[in-house]
Amino acid sequence: MTKKKFLAALLALTMGASLAACGDTNNGGDNAGDTTTAKADDAAPAATDDGGNAGGDAAGKTVGIAMPTKSLERWNRDGEYLKAQFEQAGYNVELKYSDNDTNQQNNDIQGMIADKVDLLLIAAIDGSTLSQTLDDAKSANIPVLAYDRLIMNTDAVSYYVSFDNYTVGKLQGEFVRDQLKLDSEAGPFNIEFTAGDPADNNAGYFFNGAFDTLKPYIDEGKLNIPSGKKTFEQVATAGWSTDTALENMQNTLASYYSDGTKLDVALCSNDSTALGVAQAITSDYKGDAPIVTGQDGDIANLKNIVDGIQTMTVYKNVNDEAAVTLEVSKAILSGQTPDEALVSTLSVEAIYDTESYNNGTKVVPSYLLVPYVITKDNLDVLVNTGLYKWDADNKYLESTATTT
Ligand code: BGC
Repeated sequence: MTKKKFLAALLALTMGASLAACGDTNNGGDNAGDTTTAKADDAAPAATDDGGNAGGDAAGKTVGIAMPTKSLERWNRDGEYLKAQFEQAGYNVELKYSDNDTNQQNNDIQGMIADKVDLLLIAAIDGSTLSQTLDDAKSANIPVLAYDRLIMNTDAVSYYVSFDNYTVGKLQGEFVRDQLKLDSEAGPFNIEFTAGDPADNNAGYFFNGAFDTLKPYIDEGKLNIPSGKKTFEQVATAGWSTDTALENMQNTLASYYSDGTKLDVALCSNDSTALGVAQAITSDYKGDAPIVTGQDGDIANLKNIVDGIQTMTVYKNVNDEAAVTLEVSKAILSGQTPDEALVSTLSVEAIYDTESYNNGTKVVPSYLLVPYVITKDNLDVLVNTGLYKWDADNKYLESTATTT
């Protein structure tokens, strides 16, 4: 069994009920009972081939993990996968969710600094509001790793682990290009864009990746945008909120499509926004189902894909993201300076990028994993990750973690 498969299997077995809330995108506030500090003694047997501790010298070390919110499905997975993998490698873990509230995230991280954690992993709510707090981390000699979202305007962040964010959008744009056969069909087709949270540095990358790919067809008039909303600012969705995306799409449909104008594509940057957009289309649009894009592989969206309400999602295996994060963290915690060479030791495909992610203060060295497209025709690819399984009727996918 490869290290990757072994980790996936072990996680599925050990996480059990701890992920019970994972598929629930509306499980209330993030505060109660979601701060978890586990001791290394409680950890499951090490999952790595090297006994889980090679180079990391985990004994007694604590990693502080700051996640944005439990209200967006993926972060539940990230938090739990990170926690499980770090504990299996022998680290103590302090995991906090901050209810999409930047003040709270600052406070939560300050608490971890006061607790003298040895490393901070942060998925920022607002990438530009953590500078002061991270200065404090730096003064306390606590290394900081930006997880999934880049942290802006600080030299206190050492590394960034994420996916190739521009490629996520590019895959969405290419999917639309290929589905509509834009290179051979005359069109014109109509498209509307829904992007993510302006406070999240990723959101611009996703939008630009998609827009740049489709721009030539927009410029030649083969793709029209009836609403005229074609800048990121015009289509951004605060907090990646499903409800806001729903409302925005309802307004767009009422203003520009109520006369029978055909909507061919709703390009949504991720699944939480696609969920709202698809809901608006289902209730307020009478024409044939348009192409709807997404990102993440959230359970509700995978159901919509089976039902033909969403067309694709760009999948990012966050269990792999956690695995790469663990390896980078181990190296940092053992006094090494991770670089390109680490890539060849990883069990998953990733690139080392020292050019793309400038946070306004410095270019942050980045390890970027590879996203890929999921449609109703290749859902088994998700099952093969070990993180999803078919339900009893073999119709929809569910998370292995929520049901074990
Ligand atoms: C993540 C996406 C996610 C979005 C909302 C982004 O930073 O990269 O995977 O859909 O946040 O949670």
